[in-house]
Amino acid sequence: MQEAFDLVIFGGTGDLSRRKLLPAIYAGLVAGRVDAASRIVLTSRSGLEGDVAAWLDGIFAENVPACGVDAASLKQFANMVTVIELGLTDGGEDWEALQSLLAGNSDRAIVHFLAVPPSVFTRTCKLLGDYGLNDTNARVVLEKPLGHDLASAQAINAEVGRWFDESQTFRIDHYLGKEAVQNLLALRFSNIMFEQLWSARTIDHIQITIAEDLGVQGRGAFYEGTGAMRDMVQNHLLQLLCLVAMEPPARLDADSIREEKLKVLKSLKKYTADEAEQNIVRAQYSGGAMAGEVVGSYVDDLDLDGDSTTETFVALKTYIQNWRWADVPFYLRTGKRLPDRFAEIVIQFKPIPHSPHEGWGKHINPNRFIIRLQPEDHLALRMMVKNHGSATEALREVEMNLDAVGDDATRLGPYLRLILDAARGDQSLFVHREEVEHAWRWVDHIVEHWQASDAPLKTYQAGTWGPYEVHHLMVRDDRQWFHETSGRLSNG
Ligand code: BG6
Repeated sequence: MQEAFDLVIFGGTGDLSRRKLLPAIYAGLVAGRVDAASRIVLTSRSGLEGDVAAWLDGIFAENVPACGVDAASLKQFANMVTVIELGLTDGGEDWEALQSLLAGNSDRAIVHFLAVPPSVFTRTCKLLGDYGLNDTNARVVLEKPLGHDLASAQAINAEVGRWFDESQTFRIDHYLGKEAVQNLLALRFSNIMFEQLWSARTIDHIQITIAEDLGVQGRGAFYEGTGAMRDMVQNHLLQLLCLVAMEPPARLDADSIREEKLKVLKSLKKYTADEAEQNIVRAQYSGGAMAGEVVGSYVDDLDLDGDSTTETFVALKTYIQNWRWADVPFYLRTGKRLPDRFAEIVIQFKPIPHSPHEGWGKHINPNRFIIRLQPEDHLALRMMVKNHGSATEALREVEMNLDAVGDDATRLGPYLRLILDAARGDQSLFVHREEVEHAWRWVDHIVEHWQASDAPLKTYQAGTWGPYEVHHLMVRDDRQWFHETSGRLSNG
């Protein structure tokens, strides 16, 4: 088990803390991954009236931890939690109180988790510095978004860097904490078979999809003006792309992995305005139906007065311009209010060069390696075999399941894993400042094209897979989006 540590969540009574962090840490305690001697300090502008246990109980009723909730564990967890009133504008008595609260266990790791808007990251880090809460035991975890463009990200990184050095700074991308993502690294780098196949010689193309069925209700203040490119592509999708495409690192340590990811980001193709128009689709959902219910448009969901040009869907084709991936398209897509919630990477291999049986022809599906991150973890290879019992030439596609059995890590979720890594000082699954900045460079370039273009934002009905152009992106290349549900093969 991880040694006891202190976790301070700034914005501790806010949305992220309630929905993801507290349920994850509670589940970690019950699973024996979090030492009960650890302390969790939640800072809040207005403090908390009443009993912590009752408050936590209410939170867990809405955001049920993976292990469920039992009275004894809840009591134990509540004893670990302290809620304090703390302003993030100026220091003062509340900061002195935090300082003395943390002084008791000076040899422990202290993780400061900034679950607050990026606009207050730098002020909070300065206050942590002013009150001496940034010594070598301390780490700061920065939740995305890290800025809204290159300039703002650089400003945040520079300012945070005045108080915490890079080895203490943990930029979180919770997608990197997902079990299937780590399994992808294990499979790629512990099996010679995959590495031999992992290049333009054998791979036809790669698809990465993060589809969400939810809209953006309740997140308008953040989402309007941010959009899917900055909210999802700049971080989660590009990070997944890096892990799929990077060269084998010399060691699976933070420096080596981050160095390789950075090379991928530097090799991403930069589009001219015309190319961007041809290869990137952006759209916003209009009203529609989801699971038989009428749902509103983006503008309705946010209760906006006029129109909005914020995209809730992006699909794009890009290339990594290096030796390994020359001419292999990477298709990325993400959107809100799609028919289903899933995240999946599909590595599609080339078709066989010659069919030795004339009856096979179109019946041979290309091999595919599927890495599903959610709703459940799943790794599988899809291959052709002889259809058992029928004529020699009859083929059937089967799935070779590569899932590990009996691990509860999936249930515990990515945030627990990442918080424990931060407490241990392991940065392998966190994002280096240069990665963030390079990702912004690439995204800014696209956004500049959008801003200069007079092409209107496309729309798609809520509950559909996006506008026609998204399908066209594939079909014109003689390919299709692949979507697998419950073991059934279908094309989205
Ligand atoms: C967040 C985005 O980073 O990731 C959200 O800000 C998005 O808009 C969320 O809904 C998706 O995360 P997950 O793990 O639920 O797929």
